[in-house]
Amino acid sequence: MSETQVTYLTAAELATPAAENQVRVTFLPEDKTVEFPFGSLEYDGHGLPMSFLDIAENYGIFLDHACGGACACTTCHLWIKQGAQGVSEAEDLELDRMETAADIQLSSRLGCQAVVEKPGTYVVEIPKWNRNYVQEGKPSTTGT
Ligand code: FES
Repeated sequence: MSETQVTYLTAAELATPAAENQVRVTFLPEDKTVEFPFGSLEYDGHGLPMSFLDIAENYGIFLDHACGGACACTTCHLWIKQGAQGVSEAEDLELDRMETAADIQLSSRLGCQAVVEKPGTYVVEIPKWNRNYVQEGKPSTTGT
């Protein structure tokens, strides 16, 4: 999907629940929400198909992914704030990798490995250290 085709949901659209068989994902702190029919997303080639990284890449939303989505870094770390029950279980490789990530919480996942498996509403937040990467134009090496 090219960026010129991207439209994010408006506040009025967000006031109504996602339609049946739709996937609605809000990326914080950018507060950008996208919605599409479950099973319709083209694979962008980053991370697992239908991972949050794949969704972000499809819609031009920045989620760092230094290893290209191969579960070999932690730069795609995010927190799942809503919808965790519709997301794939973490595999051992992801769990091992997560042990090296900053700001680990119970809701932490690697955006390239956490796959949306059902229609529904999802909210994910990119941690501060990753947001700093965007704001400063360089990677942060600490959890602050
Ligand atoms: S992009 Fe490297 S682990 Fe997800």
